[in-house]
Amino acid sequence: MTHPAGSLLAADKLHKAYGPTVALDGAEFSIHPGEVVAVMGPSGSGKSTLLHCLAGIVTPDSGSITYQGREMATMSDAQRSRLRRSEFGFVFQFGQLVPELTCVENVALPLRLNGASRKAAERTALTWMERLEVDDLRKKRPGEVSGGQGQRVAVARALVTDPRVLFADEPTGALDSLNGERVMNLLTDAARSTNAAVVLVTHEARVAAYSDREIVVRDGRSRDMERVV
Ligand SMILES: Nc1ncnc2c1ncn2[C@@H]1O[C@H](COP(=O)(O)OP(=O)(O)O)[C@@H](O)[C@H]1O
Ligand SMILES: [Mg+2]
Repeated sequence: MTHPAGSLLAADKLHKAYGPTVALDGAEFSIHPGEVVAVMGPSGSGKSTLLHCLAGIVTPDSGSITYQGREMATMSDAQRSRLRRSEFGFVFQFGQLVPELTCVENVALPLRLNGASRKAAERTALTWMERLEVDDLRKKRPGEVSGGQGQRVAVARALVTDPRVLFADEPTGALDSLNGERVMNLLTDAARSTNAAVVLVTHEARVAAYSDREIVVRDGRSRDMERVV
């Protein structure tokens, strides 16, 4: 597969090894604007490595990744980090909120880092917290909220810069099924409302069910899976 026409982010023939461990062995990927793609597969199959390569966090040993038609390998570190700050949003298994900051300060942080005033950043942050139904937690610190609430705060923080791609690595992995469903409903609704594409890494079928399309990774290789409805 080469990079499909119209794709926002695409990868072809990705290889990545950590010493003797082959994490990616020819993986390919593509996503269109606004599409939600689930990356499935057993633990250790290379899902997180694929996500980190797509997000420009890890450099593959070989293969190509394009974002909006531009080859990532030709970008400077500064260009890649600007991409991560302004075009990409991230949610991980454990929210990774800054414990010393309140929830609204956490959500406002990416805007503050991009130079927004505190007032403007927190105003925008609050609109996202309302959408994720956590605005009542604005003054609380991450240690004072539940796991599901913390993940919804993390989703608000990931979307506050209006990214084109939301990368979510096992975003409900630490939650019970009810809270997981709530996070996934709000995450996919919010992403769809802004036409953000979502790269959703999960090993749970009920989480993957929120996607438009599924890709299965096995031993570092990926293939498309026709959705069985
Ligand atoms: N930073 C690293 N150093 C060494 N080995 C790694 C590193 N990251 C991943 N691996 C290995 O690469 C393989 C794929 O890992 P990963 O992409 O995390 O899989 P998954 O997310 O599907 O569980 C595993 O064997 C893992 O141990
Ligand atoms: Mg992983």
